[in-house]
Amino acid sequence: MTHAPRTPFAPGRFLFGGDYNPEQWSRAVREEDIALMRRAKVNTATIGVFSWALLEPREGEYDAAWLDEVIDDLAAAGIGFLLATPTASPPPWFTIAHPDALPIRADGTPVLHGSRDTYAISAPAYRSAARRIARFLGERYGRHPALRGWHIHNEYGTVDYGPHAERAFRDWLRRRYGDLDALNAAWSTAFWSQRYGAWQEILPPRQTQYLHNPAQLVDFKRFNSDEMLAAYVEQRDAIRATGSSAPMTTNFMLPTWNHLEQWSWSAQQDVVSIDHYLDTAGPDGEAHVAYGSDLTRSWSGGPWLLMEQNATGMRIGDRLATKQPDRMIRNSLGYIARGSQSSLFFQWRASAGGSESWHGALVPHAGSDSRAFEGVVALGEMLERIAEVAEPPADGPIVEASIGIVWDAEGWWSLETPHLPNDAISYPDEVRAAHRACWRDGHAVDFVRPLADASRYRLLVVPTLYALSEETARWLETYVEAGGLLVVTFATGLADERQRIALGGYPGMLRELLGVRGEQILPEPDDVALPLTGGLQGGTWSELLHAESAQVLHRYTSGPLDGLPAITRARRGAGSAVYVSTKLAQASLDELLGDLAREAGVLPVLEGAAALGVEAVRRRGAHADYLFLLHHGDRPVHVDGAGIELLTGSSDALRLEPGGVAVFRQLGGSLPATLRLAH
Ligand code: GAL
Repeated sequence: MTHAPRTPFAPGRFLFGGDYNPEQWSRAVREEDIALMRRAKVNTATIGVFSWALLEPREGEYDAAWLDEVIDDLAAAGIGFLLATPTASPPPWFTIAHPDALPIRADGTPVLHGSRDTYAISAPAYRSAARRIARFLGERYGRHPALRGWHIHNEYGTVDYGPHAERAFRDWLRRRYGDLDALNAAWSTAFWSQRYGAWQEILPPRQTQYLHNPAQLVDFKRFNSDEMLAAYVEQRDAIRATGSSAPMTTNFMLPTWNHLEQWSWSAQQDVVSIDHYLDTAGPDGEAHVAYGSDLTRSWSGGPWLLMEQNATGMRIGDRLATKQPDRMIRNSLGYIARGSQSSLFFQWRASAGGSESWHGALVPHAGSDSRAFEGVVALGEMLERIAEVAEPPADGPIVEASIGIVWDAEGWWSLETPHLPNDAISYPDEVRAAHRACWRDGHAVDFVRPLADASRYRLLVVPTLYALSEETARWLETYVEAGGLLVVTFATGLADERQRIALGGYPGMLRELLGVRGEQILPEPDDVALPLTGGLQGGTWSELLHAESAQVLHRYTSGPLDGLPAITRARRGAGSAVYVSTKLAQASLDELLGDLAREAGVLPVLEGAAALGVEAVRRRGAHADYLFLLHHGDRPVHVDGAGIELLTGSSDALRLEPGGVAVFRQLGGSLPATLRLAH
């Protein structure tokens, strides 16, 4: 299940710049763009993301003279480019010529052009048009010396429920199940008289009267991920066939919805990239940066690319929150500390028109005479000063972690099926809570694919993985038997990969390993706190649990479960498995995972840093380790003995101001840096 390690993406510098949409601007503005890019030391422009209508104004007629000019201007200024295929936004002529290639929503509504992403992924007309334009771009620019890589499509994730999806879904199901009996069994169609007697009867999970079949829902998710991946692979191969050897990626979106199974997608890319938009203007945004970075580095198996972030703002609910330059810089170095080879943004210049005129940019509406652009210039300078960090280590991980958190997109999908004991539970929230707890304690964390080699992790956390396969259950057992410390949180292992409940007591798939037997699930409203022994606090979910072979670590102390086990631990082989049967309040989860990490011998990256509000991350390089200190706290900190600080070039002790960053070269491994509050 693990894929061969890819050659680490090493462009020789940090890619700095972002989406560049020159088609929105006059020649004079474009000349200013080049001058400003040079001033800010921008070295990479992502072009073509939304250029289909200009590149192919009429079906089969290409016009790339304007793009030649843009690329010539960039290249003459020493600026490289990532070239996108524009297939996320088909032009109006496409939908008029191929109305069948528009996506249909689950309720049967056709989605028309006038925005973007108006395509049905399984429509043959769309797929062949996408291959054609990819080939055209490959032939024309695939060997350009300034081409840094291919950005295929943009954020795959548009789901279609129409006739093309219906046909392709059935084909996918035939391949998965072989015959209808197997499908009927896997989908539990005996319930509600859903038995299928012919393949033609099977539909995508369109609008229906009441609850959908959960197995059908999850299979449709699996199908969509595979189908979109096939579309990506077609474009990639069409470009490769033109002889272009530049690295290929497609930008994942890290939002609160998810249509892709990232492990299988990552295996098909030369480097994994994401777009990352903070979902809070508050301090938790810093933990969000670390979470997005750790996920993407883990998917990539090494260096990765931050393809988009917002330079000046965040969209929170229905309004804009401002991001000041110090945060933009600190966040950018936060991504880099955790393995990003870039600091790229959407977009270079804030648009004057169109749907996203109020989205942030490196050059704001006010122009270059602005605090925001000064910050961009400062970041460009900093990235040059730390350029040596971009050279990845010849072997071993770029960030060394002894804690793993299991990430499984299928777990997300299964938890989205309706009518679970508590539909308010969110997979990404639970994964993030576990990650946040480790982050607050100052630990490096990897995410782990089910069935991958987990032997390097002393602590492995499985947050709320509702459905899992027998193989995954065996894999967790093997991990524990070999001496690992496993922590499984509530609502894990209740069902198998067909969304069938494992009977005989909860959580059926892991009952033996955890040494417990749950007989009843008691969900709680979000505002009800469940106190536990030891001062911990749970809520949202609880279980009437019997500790069979497990020892009880904490008990419920009120309500119907008063005195009964809440958190348990079972020994198995050389290791042990902890089960947390309730949703712990964040502070309680912090405490529990912090204690278990220490017990497992996992040390924070820099002892004492987290308590001062300083995030410490060590990134390994080709010739040295680099210690990044990101100060999220509010009091100046005195740093001594950490090595040579690359931004200042000094090896003296330094005072790190709140909001500040420092990057130390540490020859000969980690140095005993000390931190204390400055006076
Ligand atoms: C991304 C997308 C960009 C832009 C940005 C800002 O998800 O790839 O094209 O729309 O969001 O909203």
